[in-house]
Amino acid sequence: MEVIICPDAGEIGKLAGAKIAALLRRKPTAVLGLATGSSPLDIYADLARRVEAGELDVSRNAAFALDEYVGLPPTHEQSYAATIRRTVTEPLHMDPSLVHTPDGMADDIEAACRAYDEAIRAAGGVDVQILGIGSNGHIGFNEPTSSLASRTRIKTLAASTRRDNARFFEGEEPPTHCLTQGLGTIMEARELLLVAQGENKADAIARAVEGPITSMTPASILQFHPRATVIIDDAAASKLQLADYYRETYAGKPAWQRFADEAR
Ligand code: F6R
Repeated sequence: MEVIICPDAGEIGKLAGAKIAALLRRKPTAVLGLATGSSPLDIYADLARRVEAGELDVSRNAAFALDEYVGLPPTHEQSYAATIRRTVTEPLHMDPSLVHTPDGMADDIEAACRAYDEAIRAAGGVDVQILGIGSNGHIGFNEPTSSLASRTRIKTLAASTRRDNARFFEGEEPPTHCLTQGLGTIMEARELLLVAQGENKADAIARAVEGPITSMTPASILQFHPRATVIIDDAAASKLQLADYYRETYAGKPAWQRFADEAR
């Protein structure tokens, strides 16, 4: 696992954006894996800036979101379909028909989940999956004790996740269930890019990066992935035992700066 500690949160989006832009230069047809929540917003802003500058064209790329709430129609502004449309599809001028979210309104939830995994496969698989991490160590909505081999399915949201996400649901109860890509599904992406900012992610990051691989910390499964990069700020890195090692300076350049130069 490559751990990159950025001196300030603002650099995270730029670095992750540069890595995704570099991948798109190497493979213009790359399939993107999208996350919602606050963590990836700076990545999307960086990519949108590149699109506006004419550096990047993702108008023909397919993309798959990690998850969706059950029972929120795509017209609900906190549904992930609407969130992805607002934060990714529109600012990056993507083709809405190529940007997918699981169908949280399906009558047959199991069939919808199977169809989602099948659609990812039919598109050739995800080339780079963007991930945030829950304060309880979840990725997607794979809450603690999720099967490490799981596929897209319905999950009950943990009480801590509902509390964390209550900020998006003013005057409304956050949903109790979601459809989420499984850990097995996420692990099939060719590259994983996890970003986290702030002290409330420090525990989860330490457990995911340096703890044992366990379903109690679903993000720890990233340790099995051959191409997983974790880009975090100082606060999210504050509980890592090997933080000095990840930060090491060579040839007068701190590690994060070398990664940033490499991605450009
Ligand atoms: C969202 C998702 C979740 C979030 C995580 C962190 O699609 O899959 O795993 O990435 O809950 O959320 P934020 O970024 O809002 O702290």
